[in-house]
Amino acid sequence: MIRTAVKASKSYEVLTGSGLLSSSGKIMRELCPGARKLLIVSETRVAPLYLEKVRESAKAQGFEVSEYIFEAGEASKNIGSVSGMWGVCAREGFTRTDLIAALGGGVTGDMAGFAAASFLRGIDVIQIPTSLLAMVDASVGGKTGIDLPEGKNQVGAFWQPVCVIEDTDCLKTLPDGVFTEGMAEVIKYAFIMDIPLYDLLRENASRGIGIRDDAELMERIVGMCVADKADVIMNDEFDNGRRQILNYGHTAGHVIEKKSDFSKPHGICVAKGMGIMIDACVAAGSLTEDEASKMKSLITAYGLPVTDDITPEEAREGAMNDKKKRGNTLSVILVNKIGDAQIVKMTPDEYTSFLRGKRTDDTPL
Ligand code: GLY
Repeated sequence: MIRTAVKASKSYEVLTGSGLLSSSGKIMRELCPGARKLLIVSETRVAPLYLEKVRESAKAQGFEVSEYIFEAGEASKNIGSVSGMWGVCAREGFTRTDLIAALGGGVTGDMAGFAAASFLRGIDVIQIPTSLLAMVDASVGGKTGIDLPEGKNQVGAFWQPVCVIEDTDCLKTLPDGVFTEGMAEVIKYAFIMDIPLYDLLRENASRGIGIRDDAELMERIVGMCVADKADVIMNDEFDNGRRQILNYGHTAGHVIEKKSDFSKPHGICVAKGMGIMIDACVAAGSLTEDEASKMKSLITAYGLPVTDDITPEEAREGAMNDKKKRGNTLSVILVNKIGDAQIVKMTPDEYTSFLRGKRTDDTPL
């Protein structure tokens, strides 16, 4: 098992390893000795696989367990679901020493975290991510929230968990597509800050998503990503500076995701967004063709796309809703050298011309 310490407004550990779901009750009990009640939040695809294991493990430690299961998918990430969670906590008489556990992917973690951040002005949350994407990104760092019809993650709070329990055995049962989209976030860390991770991914690129069956390698990869994320969080918990590099590929990615009405998965859109940024940097002359080709080869080796048909205008329009926008300035994350991300301020017009590159019209990117 790998233990990664995160020291932010709350200090906690991320535990990454095989078989941890069965010890989840014991871990929660050790960290929250005074908690009597536990709400496990999960969704319709994950609950049948793992809920029983966590529930039984928690009951064995004396927790009175309630459950809130929502319909899997981004469409559920709204105030109605969070209100459902608040309702269970209120009816069951949860107090400030009680606990919520998020068992599932990013949508589950974000919503359960937000319910915990807001119920009684804040109760503890334990993140138990079951998808690759949630293990390497969403569950660590305390971002919680919901979508609005106007945009993704528009309402939320920073609320750090008391612990993150990552059972890498869960990766074995992930559908191929869900594993693949998680690889986009893994590759993102390699590009923005981690050359050893880039080398490891490149060495294993011929195996593609077959790496999922290599438990030792996956534990190592997830651990490296978590260490990267912890490093970023510890320097900028509230997303005012360096944390924004984690958004590489996301500004364009979020626009693609929203345009597809969330039918295109988040990680797929992030991969497309990274591809778009790579092309734009090459056109701007800041990234060499050789480096760009290495980056794109790595993305495609793991089954991910590097293009989309949004236009520069659509990308600009969508970016106007981005949380990284301050006033009329966008923080655009660029990688001009593998392992090194930069934050560049652009006006919306500059962003459109940057994306357009050598295009003279608004043809798709
Ligand atoms: N998912 C990006 C962040 O946590 O800042």
